[in-house]
Amino acid sequence: MIKVAPSLLASDFLNLGRDIEKVRAAGGDYLHCDVMDGAFVPNISFGQPVVKAAVKSGIPCDVHLMIEKPEKYIEEFAKLGARIITVHAEACVHLNRQLRLIRECGCLAGVALNPATSPECLRYSLGEFDLALVMTVNPGFGGQKMIMKATDKITEIRDMLASEGAEAEIEVDGGVNESTAPMLIKKGATLLVAGSAFFGAKDCAEFIKNIRG
Ligand code: DX5
Ligand code: ZN
Repeated sequence: MIKVAPSLLASDFLNLGRDIEKVRAAGGDYLHCDVMDGAFVPNISFGQPVVKAAVKSGIPCDVHLMIEKPEKYIEEFAKLGARIITVHAEACVHLNRQLRLIRECGCLAGVALNPATSPECLRYSLGEFDLALVMTVNPGFGGQKMIMKATDKITEIRDMLASEGAEAEIEVDGGVNESTAPMLIKKGATLLVAGSAFFGAKDCAEFIKNIRG
C-alpha cells in the first residue's frame, strides 16, 4: 500500500497537538518534519523542539533536513527518536558517510534531490540508503505548484534500483494532491508527502484514502 506522510509545515502551530491527532485519525503513516535553516533553503521552519514533540505522539517521524552540514545534527535528531532522517545530496560533501551515520544511529537513511539534481548522483550510493526523496518543488516553502519535469526522476530511480537489484522507498515531496497522486504512483512513488493538501482537506481520512489510490 502507498504510504502517506502529512507535512507538519502546513499544520497550525498554535494547535500542533490537535493537528498531529488529525494525522493519526486520518491514518497517516509518518509525520513529515521539514527542518530548514535559512541557508540551504531561503526559509527557516523549526528544529529539534518541534521534532521532539512530534516524536512523543508515537507516530513515526520522517525528518527532512533542508540544512547545510546535516552531519552536525544527524545524531541529535536520531536521539530525539526520528524514524527516517533524510539529507540532501546537494548538502553533503561525503554523502555515503552521512547515510552510514544515519543507519548507525538506528534510523532509516534517506537522500533527497532538488528538482535540478540528476538521479545519477544516487548510483554510487545504491545500497547505502533506504529512501530516495524526489523534490517536486524547490525546497523551502509549502503550497507550491508541482514541477512536472522533476517527476520523470521517479521512474528513473525505480529503474535504477531494479537494474542494480537494490530496494528503497521512493518518496515524493511538493505539490502532492488528489490530482497529482495517481501519476506519481504510476511512475513508482511509494511514499507521498502532503502538506497544504492534507491540512486543507475537508475530510483528512478521505484525502489519504483518495491519494493512496
Ligand atoms: C517543501 C517541503 C515540503 C512541504 C510540502 O520544501 O519539503 O515537505 O511541506 O508542502 P506541499 O505539500 O504544500 O507542497
Ligand atoms: Zn519535506
